[in-house]
Amino acid sequence: MVRIVRLAGEDDFEGWRQAARALAGAGVPPDHVAWHVGLAGGASPLPASGAPFSVPRAFLTLAETVVRHPDPERFALLYTLLLRLRERPGLLAEGSDPLVRRLERMAKEVRQEAWRNVAATALTGTMAETSREAVGGNANAAWEAVREEARGCTRCHLYKHATQTVFGEGPVAAPLMFVGEQPGDQEDLAGRPFVGPAGQLFDRALGDAGIDRGQAYITNAVKHFKFERRGKRRIHSKPDAGEIEACRWWIEQERAILRPTLTVALGATAARSLFGKAVTITATRGRAHALPEGGEAWVTVHPSFLLRVQDDKEAEYARFVADLVRVKERLAELS
Ligand code: URA
Repeated sequence: MVRIVRLAGEDDFEGWRQAARALAGAGVPPDHVAWHVGLAGGASPLPASGAPFSVPRAFLTLAETVVRHPDPERFALLYTLLLRLRERPGLLAEGSDPLVRRLERMAKEVRQEAWRNVAATALTGTMAETSREAVGGNANAAWEAVREEARGCTRCHLYKHATQTVFGEGPVAAPLMFVGEQPGDQEDLAGRPFVGPAGQLFDRALGDAGIDRGQAYITNAVKHFKFERRGKRRIHSKPDAGEIEACRWWIEQERAILRPTLTVALGATAARSLFGKAVTITATRGRAHALPEGGEAWVTVHPSFLLRVQDDKEAEYARFVADLVRVKERLAELS
């Protein structure tokens, strides 16, 4: 007997998930299920839930993306994989399985399409015109596509010596974005922003200001580590105007997807990237700057300045924390 499942829409992930769970729990084989989109028409009752089972988080992420693919077989393919994962939980990691490869290819196509929409909007209009619809209604997929694309970035020469692109991280729905300068030695190796000494100081200041790092999106104006070799050491070297300009492409994509309410530039490089021109910290610090694409920018010092500064170290740190507290309060006002 073939059971008919009716899903509310073309990308009804929740509907698919509930039905798939019930059907898999009852051991219904894939060729006994017909997946239909649209509520008009008959549907078979779902079996009562069987024995509970869990699937890897990576499968749910994959499924959430694949349901947005136009392939009419997507729901059935996902259900087939779900059943196979119950037998072989490590299947996703194997990489050579044809079904896994097909679904991963589909997920990639969904991400690429979402990113194409972001890129087209960024090229043809201002960010203010970018809507959630314009990023394919799936900001996460668009963000993943942009990050994946940035992995292979050759927009300037910095990729040649850096270990990897260090893309931004944090929730795509975050209303607060921090922009640093560029990854340092440790960030270059770890592939994550602000994890080295400046990052640790930044974390401490965020904690003192009562801001949860996990709720903010943290990125850099330049995504590759620029350095000079001195013996075995790699010494940070400041990105120049051309490098900042080349890398603005990526931060514009990030900003078009996140559309943060408030963006904090940490230091002059970040401020230059955000405003599209050189500004000084002294002239811009501690007040709101309306951005043409929407949202507000605030400027403060870079945490590495606090590591370097010799005079009034404690007072400079306290001033930085005070800036962060103002940012937090301002965000609450705007939200
Ligand atoms: N400095 C930055 O500007 N960014 C990092 O990610 C680390 C150090």
